[in-house]
Amino acid sequence: MLDELYELNNGVKIPKIGFGTWQIPAGDTAYQSTLYAIKCGYRHIDTAYVYGNEESVGKAIQDSGVPREELFITTKLPDYVKNYEDTFLYFEKSLTALKTDYIDLYLIHAPWPWKEVGKDCTEGNIEAWKAMIELYKAGKIKAIGVSNFHVKDIQGLVDATGVWPAVNQIRYFIGNTQPEITNFCQAHQVLIEAYSPLATGELLEKEELKRIANKYQKTVAQICLRYCLEKNTLPLPKSTHAERISANLDLNFKITEEDMMQLDDLYHIASTRPLRD
Ligand code: A2P
Repeated sequence: MLDELYELNNGVKIPKIGFGTWQIPAGDTAYQSTLYAIKCGYRHIDTAYVYGNEESVGKAIQDSGVPREELFITTKLPDYVKNYEDTFLYFEKSLTALKTDYIDLYLIHAPWPWKEVGKDCTEGNIEAWKAMIELYKAGKIKAIGVSNFHVKDIQGLVDATGVWPAVNQIRYFIGNTQPEITNFCQAHQVLIEAYSPLATGELLEKEELKRIANKYQKTVAQICLRYCLEKNTLPLPKSTHAERISANLDLNFKITEEDMMQLDDLYHIASTRPLRD
């Protein structure tokens, strides 16, 4: 699993599983979890300015001793930054906190500020996108993308600039596969990254999943993560426990087509909650 890669639409290679850090508190917890993740083999770390833990993640990256070019680091422009100038400013803040001079993947965190879910920010997103394209052309970012974007949000960026995102990171797990945006992205070579691939833990006690996990002699978490891979999406599991961090990498098995169909039918959690990261 560790050396398997997806290729993004600009040719950049990305490790097929990433260590998610959303909701990992800044300080020792984020530091130790990230350091352990790198020690046990993760080479792809996903963070964001608004997670507040970039500083701790950056220190772990630095202390890991793994050369920077062997790591793939994703971070995100805050949801509330919807203009050209501030995009450069916040990008620099992330670079400083992460103690690096480039970012592998930089994402617009959401199409609207979380405090104003649903607001039309098309113009602001286009401004931010133009700044990100400049940073990409300058080599400061290896690939650019979006998160929590719907079809019309992506279309707005592409119509204005002609530049497709390499990635759309969305809330994705068994029972919440968001077919409209997922099919659109996959048809246009935009990689879907799955955040909350375990539904932030909600799936772990489901009896039907336990039954399928037993059949494969795997854990429910491993079934959930393998499901994402079978769907050609990139899971970003988060954990603060060493044994879980390493177990979440043990995905070297296949789920049969029949079982995938059963998993597809199992849950329709697709909540009315707004997309949230
Ligand atoms: P913890 O951080 O205490 O290990 P998601 O990736 O969908 O956001 O889910 C994260 C949640 O799932 C966290 O509560 C995390 O708890 C828990 N978790 C992550 N990996 C595992 C695992 N392998 N087994 C059980 N719980 C897990």
